[in-house]
Amino acid sequence: MIDALGNPQSALVLGGGSDIAVATLEQMAARRLRRVVLAGRNEGSLASAATRVEAAGCDQVATVHFDAVDAAGHDAAISDLFSQHGGFDLVLVAFGVLGDQGQAEVDGDEALRIVQTNFTGAATAMLAASRSLVAQGHGTIVLLSSVAGERARRSNYVYGSSKAGADALAQGLGDALHGSGVHVMIVRPGFVRSKMTEGMAPAPMSAQPAEVASAIVRGLEKRAEVVYVPSKLRYVFAVLRHLPRPIFRRLPL
Ligand SMILES: NC(=O)c1ccc[n+]([C@@H]2O[C@H](COP(=O)([O-])OP(=O)(O)OC[C@H]3O[C@@H](n4cnc5c(N)ncnc54)[C@H](OP(=O)(O)O)[C@@H]3O)[C@@H](O)[C@H]2O)c1
Repeated sequence: MIDALGNPQSALVLGGGSDIAVATLEQMAARRLRRVVLAGRNEGSLASAATRVEAAGCDQVATVHFDAVDAAGHDAAISDLFSQHGGFDLVLVAFGVLGDQGQAEVDGDEALRIVQTNFTGAATAMLAASRSLVAQGHGTIVLLSSVAGERARRSNYVYGSSKAGADALAQGLGDALHGSGVHVMIVRPGFVRSKMTEGMAPAPMSAQPAEVASAIVRGLEKRAEVVYVPSKLRYVFAVLRHLPRPIFRRLPL
């Protein structure tokens, strides 16, 4: 059960090899987290994530195959995991692909991969998780969204729109679940130095996975609904969102 300070004891991580997810679990392990299931498609990254989470103090860490693009299988897969493991206090939706914007503009398959992973997969996974959490009567869904979804930018609008879709779904789901005992928290990081951005020049106000992790832990303690990392991006994007398009279009974003 989540304790009075908002610290979960058990977690299901969809996209279990994510750098941000592993940093988050390491910090949670130093609190009350004891039981973790890492679900993902890459055995190597799941195994190294499991080693790090165990070293941080979790005594029960399991890995399981899960593919975000297998949206039709999410209901059965997630409900089976809840049954097999006796439920979870936290479901962290961490999978995602940045994709190649240029490629997505000329190749429908690349656009489909980005949208199916980041939007369709996140939507079916969150809805499936919400049903299991409501049935057990408590728990939290955390979605790793992005400031990229706040306003689509020329340089990565396929990724941005896919994150905007997942973010909007999480907002609606959070409202629908209000009063049910199940909470939804949306996390909107800016540029994070992780596997996803390896080799890219860091954007201004970039963060490390550990900074996102700390913000998630603090957000859970406060039962926050939306968390920006770093927090000042909330104000930066409030301005960017309202800039007139002729001006927005000229920005080097
Ligand atoms: N890094 C950033 O700048 C940034 C900023 C804002 C938001 N975010 C979001 O934060 C989340 C975590 O990203 P990260 O920075 O931690 O990057 P990461 O380390 O690359 O993590 C992304 C994870 O998603 C998994 N994944 C991708 N496609 C999948 C699929 N079809 N099925 C299952 N798993 C799949 C990857 O697994 P594999 O090992 O199999 O590739 C990887 O473990 C993502 O949703 C991302 O959009 C990241």
